[in-house]
Amino acid sequence: MPLHSLHDLLMRELSLLSSAEKQSLPVLERLQKCADNPRLARLLRSHAEETREQIARLDRIFLDLGTRPRNGATGGMRGLRQDCVEIAAMADVDPHARDAALIAAAQHLEHDEIAAYGCARTWAKLLGLRQVASLLQRSLDEEHGMDSRLSKLAESVNKVALEPELAA
Ligand SMILES: [Fe+2]
Repeated sequence: MPLHSLHDLLMRELSLLSSAEKQSLPVLERLQKCADNPRLARLLRSHAEETREQIARLDRIFLDLGTRPRNGATGGMRGLRQDCVEIAAMADVDPHARDAALIAAAQHLEHDEIAAYGCARTWAKLLGLRQVASLLQRSLDEEHGMDSRLSKLAESVNKVALEPELAA
């Protein structure tokens, strides 16, 4: 992929985001299925819905720009998703500790997406692509929202992981 300008950089970030979001969808669905806490399961399900909208938003951006996403994902992105899959596949686990691990893994994903949407939004703004910047801002706001809902939920989930008798 050529990298000669800020526009090339934006195209690269959008392609990485598109690939990352598409890979996130089955991962979120898998995390949701192994969550013990029903609030966590609901949150992961609703974020999978948001992720579908974010993928559609990225498709619309590529359409508006008259281009298509290039193939590729960074090693970091692949590693984050692999961590989630490994946590979901663990056999010998305390369900409360696993819920705490699921929240941490989901937050790693969200923070990565927040960085990517934030950079892409800023570059689109600098390039005068106002509509693209505004679509990216909507997804960035959703990612921030998911991150803070996960942080809030972690307060009670971590307590139960520490003292499982609180779950009763
Ligand atoms: Fe997300």
